[in-house]
Amino acid sequence: MKALTCHAFKPYKEHAVEDVDAPAISPGHVRIEIHAAGINFPDLLMVEGKYQMKPPFPFIAGAECAGVITELGEGVKTRKIGERVLCVVPIGAFAEQVVAPEMTCFPLSQNMSFAEGAALTITYGTALHALDQRANLQAGEKLLVLGAAGGVGLAAIELGKAMGAEIIAAASSEEKCAAAKARGAKHGINYAQDDLKSRAKELSGGGVDVVFDPVGDKFAEPAIRALGWGGRFLVIGFAGGEIPKIPLNLTLLKSADIRGVFWGAWTMRDPKTHFANMAKLMEFFEQGKIKPQISNSYPLQDFSAAFDELAERRAIGKVVLTMR
Ligand SMILES: NC(=O)c1ccc[n+]([C@@H]2O[C@H](COP(=O)([O-])OP(=O)(O)OC[C@H]3O[C@@H](n4cnc5c(N)ncnc54)[C@H](OP(=O)(O)O)[C@@H]3O)[C@@H](O)[C@H]2O)c1
Repeated sequence: MKALTCHAFKPYKEHAVEDVDAPAISPGHVRIEIHAAGINFPDLLMVEGKYQMKPPFPFIAGAECAGVITELGEGVKTRKIGERVLCVVPIGAFAEQVVAPEMTCFPLSQNMSFAEGAALTITYGTALHALDQRANLQAGEKLLVLGAAGGVGLAAIELGKAMGAEIIAAASSEEKCAAAKARGAKHGINYAQDDLKSRAKELSGGGVDVVFDPVGDKFAEPAIRALGWGGRFLVIGFAGGEIPKIPLNLTLLKSADIRGVFWGAWTMRDPKTHFANMAKLMEFFEQGKIKPQISNSYPLQDFSAAFDELAERRAIGKVVLTMR
């Protein structure tokens, strides 16, 4: 099978799609013929050795995909051959096949395409866990989303809207703000031009209740300064590059919280709530409340151009690789 195989950590452009043996089936696992795989920012970091997880070489990159089950390992009870599923794995999704534990697969909603299925779990799963279990977001609260047109950003906008919040989207261009408004944000702040803190305070009438921050870098501190009394700041990621250092007096002055979010680790610690969240996401999809936005699809062979779209900050929504 064809697979994006990493033999060393190096710039993503230097990796290659190779012919490798298909993985062997094992008990409790299913074989999935992959149709599409979603690219997430951590995939770029992982192939370059900049992510917290560093798999032994050689490894196949990619963490989420959608496809059809073609083989069942011994003892598999919950899945069947021919079923359309989405799946999250630590590694191995940028390939024509993957073998994954049955518990990591969820049936695709009937109206969901393979590309949408491949684009759903990590971004929407992270955003729902962050807004619900970590921030306890309430209807009517004001939610500020940074990097609002990126993968997790757009997911946070749609889910925040579905949860009844009033959303302020912050992004680096008018086009990105418009994309966020089309998905449910009430206001947009172009932080390449406008002052994030003062605009967010102005638009929220004094301070926001929750900040969702996948960007970090120079935007985290002004966003914390835009919180109101009892506000919650969600640490999602550092796509901007730098991990910011925050003066703690900012939390004292507003009785505010800084809350870390690590969706992948949480799914393993609390699988029951993770499964409930997945069911909720499928329900929201069926109700038309969420719809993963595909920025662009590329054949697996063109992974480098697909990675460029994320690295060069051009993506609006998710970038997807297709295998067939
Ligand atoms: N905590 C968790 O459990 C968890 C789960 C999934 C993802 N994440 C993290 O969330 C972050 C976003 O992931 P994603 O998949 O949504 O990525 P993405 O689609 O590429 O979005 C990231 C956004 O960050 C902004 N950005 C600012 N500086 C950037 C730069 N130098 N390069 C690239 N983007 C930059 C861009 O928005 P503007 O151009 O509008 O600034 C971009 O839309 C990543 O750091 C990822 O590791 C965390």
